[in-house]
Amino acid sequence: MKMNWVEKFFMNNALRAFIQRHFEAPLLEKLGGRVDGMKVLEIGCGRGIGTGIIFERFGAREIHSFDVDPEMVEKARKRLSGYPQDRLKLFVGDAASIDAEDNSFDAVFDFWIIHHVPDWRKAVSEIRRVLKPGGKFFFGEVTSKALGRLFYRMFLEHPSQNRFSAREFVSELEKQGIRVGNNSVERFFGDFVIGAGRRV
Ligand SMILES: C[S@@+](CC[C@H](N)C(=O)[O-])C[C@H]1O[C@@H](n2cnc3c(N)ncnc32)[C@H](O)[C@@H]1O
Repeated sequence: MKMNWVEKFFMNNALRAFIQRHFEAPLLEKLGGRVDGMKVLEIGCGRGIGTGIIFERFGAREIHSFDVDPEMVEKARKRLSGYPQDRLKLFVGDAASIDAEDNSFDAVFDFWIIHHVPDWRKAVSEIRRVLKPGGKFFFGEVTSKALGRLFYRMFLEHPSQNRFSAREFVSELEKQGIRVGNNSVERFFGDFVIGAGRRV
């Protein structure tokens, strides 16, 4: 499900980029390490701030990034035009049906997107499918606790059925063969879960 204009306002700004660079990325790196020289997939790339971070901070060799919203992919394309284009593929796509071969990525990044996917378990199974055995999955997710808050219900649009708590999200990853162990943390009283796992 695409972001509405209110969520676009909150996500597409300099403060959010600052938080992503200086708080989310260091925490993800602490939990999951770097991806030097690796081929990486970013799901729901938005305007491409995360893609830049994965190149610069995490050391990826090649990144494929997609978003369900063509407007966001266009924004990402403009933002990322200075990066080597032979190491970057941007496209419109759906996390519940990823256009990629099995076992084709060393790592997948999810910066706050799976809670937008109606069949989120399918998205998890797609991530597992495209990851190589031993491949890393980095995630930041918004839980049912946050989505139940008045602000989220009044101003933002997300699938309302069948959302997940932090524990349910991590359990589903483990169930589907992405081992997280102790490498996840909750933030803001369980509103957010951030972590890293590896495909078994
Ligand atoms: C909260 S935003 C996060 C954007 C970006 N990752 C960031 O951190 O700034 C969620 C993004 O997921 C995208 N999205 C929603 N459903 C999707 C789906 N099924 N497949 C791919 N992207 C999706 C939205 O269009 C939006 O850009």
